[in-house]
This record gives sequence, structure tokens and C-alpha cells, in this order.
Amino acid sequence: MKWDEIDFIQELTLTSEAYDGKVGRWWGQQTNDRFHAHAYSNIANYVRSFLQNNPSLIIDYACGPGNLLLRLPELFPDCRFIGIDVSALMLRLAKKRLARLGTNPSGQIRLIKTELPDFTLPRGKASVVIFCFPQILWGSDQKRYDENGYRHEKDTEVAKFLAAPRKPNAKDKRISGDAQMLLNSLLGGKVVSRNFRGLLKRGGICVRVEYAKAEREKLTELEQYRLAFEEGSLETSMNGRKAEKLFDFISSTYFPSKVMEDVYYQTKDETDRKGGYSITMLEAV
Ligand SMILES: C[S@@+](CC[C@H](N)C(=O)[O-])C[C@H]1O[C@@H](n2cnc3c(N)ncnc32)[C@H](O)[C@@H]1O
Repeated sequence: MKWDEIDFIQELTLTSEAYDGKVGRWWGQQTNDRFHAHAYSNIANYVRSFLQNNPSLIIDYACGPGNLLLRLPELFPDCRFIGIDVSALMLRLAKKRLARLGTNPSGQIRLIKTELPDFTLPRGKASVVIFCFPQILWGSDQKRYDENGYRHEKDTEVAKFLAAPRKPNAKDKRISGDAQMLLNSLLGGKVVSRNFRGLLKRGGICVRVEYAKAEREKLTELEQYRLAFEEGSLETSMNGRKAEKLFDFISSTYFPSKVMEDVYYQTKDETDRKGGYSITMLEAV
């Protein structure tokens, strides 16, 4: 099948099953080129040079076929690793790769199949959680937020303020979009960040690798606030209210890269062709 024939909008409504079907087969192949290989090596080396102490446990959250995970053991020989994903196909690919590379003779890497966010996973154990090229898909029902204890009144108020329609601004595409969708995405993103915080020790590091079109400082002020809200690092009061703080922001570095075309494949929007990814470091408070 030609990948540009995939109807991503249709496929992604399958929520967490999408990566067991066409989207998963596309991702498995898409990430096999030299641009992705370069990006994953760069990310692994960046994390290695950033961390001064030797971590004891690194979790790759929604690890996919393990392209990043499998590059880590040689950089952190004394560390244990857990890769988590909901997709049986993605985990099968990761397992095959592990076997082929002989990367895991001592069982240093464990793969776990579960739907994320998952608040039943052991708390406070990880030194580092990595979230790389994320696309967390979950049911549309609000119940999941509630079951996960997502009843943070102040956060909901802050998110509503950040998602509210505003005067059009050419630089901020999401402003004119659907406010309800944006609100759900902000609150959903924050739930995932709460899951990271729960998995990490105090002082642990959350590494977020996200597609980006420019350096973080070039985003509009509103976009920066939204990003910080989702990450759990927002300090500034919004409309007199403060969101729940989970992380201290440490740094964000932008790398231009052809991997941005992953986004273009899904949106078919020409403006999503150019860009790269940012690596953001956050410290659990
Ligand atoms: C774009 S891929 C990124 C995979 C990997 N981090 C990488 O860099 O190659 C998104 C991954 O998220 C996983 N995923 C999506 N929704 C999920 C959910 N609710 N729970 C667990 N994994 C999920 C998919 O199965 C897929 O492997």
C-alpha cells in the first residue's frame, strides 16, 4: 500500500488500535530512514550529555518500535529500561529489533503493553521519562480523566482561559480553531504530564521530544503558555489562577530535521513540511 493513500483522520479515530493497523505499519517503515536514524542518535546522545548522574531507571513512554530505546543501553550501561506502549505490533517490532541487535542479553530492557496514561504503574521509581514524537490516542470519553483523578478545578479554569477564542492573530493558528477541541487537548496533555510526574522520583527528568517549526522562544506568548500548561511547568497566573505545577522548566533546544515530514504525511498541509523537533528538559518538583 502507498502511504499517501492512508486516511489518517479515519485511522486515528480507531484510537489506541490505530498503531496495530495501517498507521503502525507506516510508522515502522517511516522511521527506518537515515533522517530518523540521525534524529534518534542525536536525541540519545543529547540525553546522555545532559544527565550528570547515572540514572537507575529510564522509561520510554509510548516507545513504539523502540528506535530510541535500543540506542540507550550502550550509553547507560548500568541503567534499567522500560518501554511502554499499547500497540502489540509496535512492541513486536521492538522485540524483534532487540533480538537482532543482541542489545538485551541481561534483560536490561523490559517491554510493557498497556494503554496510557496508566496511573496503576509503579510510582516514584524512574530517574528519567522520555516522551518522543508523541501521539497519544485515547477514547473520547471524559471518564478516563475522571478515573485518573483529574479533578483539578484550577487547572480546568486555566485551560478554559487558554483555549478561549481570541481576536484572530495570523501567527497563532490554533486560536481560530475549535475551542472545545483545544480545551480537550490541553487537559488531555496535562493528564499525561501528571502520569510522568507520578512515575518519576522527585528531581527526576522528563524529556519531551516534539515536532516543532522553530525555537520555543519564537512561539507567541499564548502558545508558550499553552505548552507550559500541558507540560505542567506553567508558573504565570492566568486570569488570577495558577495551574498545578508538576515540573520546573530547564531548557529547550530546537533541531531542524526532515523528520517533520511525519506530520505532513498525516495532515497533508504544506506548511507542516518544514521544521524539525525540539528536546525539552523538565525537572520533577
Ligand atoms: C508517533 S509514535 C512514536 C513512537 C516512539 N516514541 C518513537 O519515537 O518512535 C506514537 C506511539 O504512541 C503509541 N500510543 C498511542 N496512543 C497510546 C496509548 N493510549 N497508550 C499507549 N501507547 C499509545 C502508539 O502505539 C505509537 O507507538
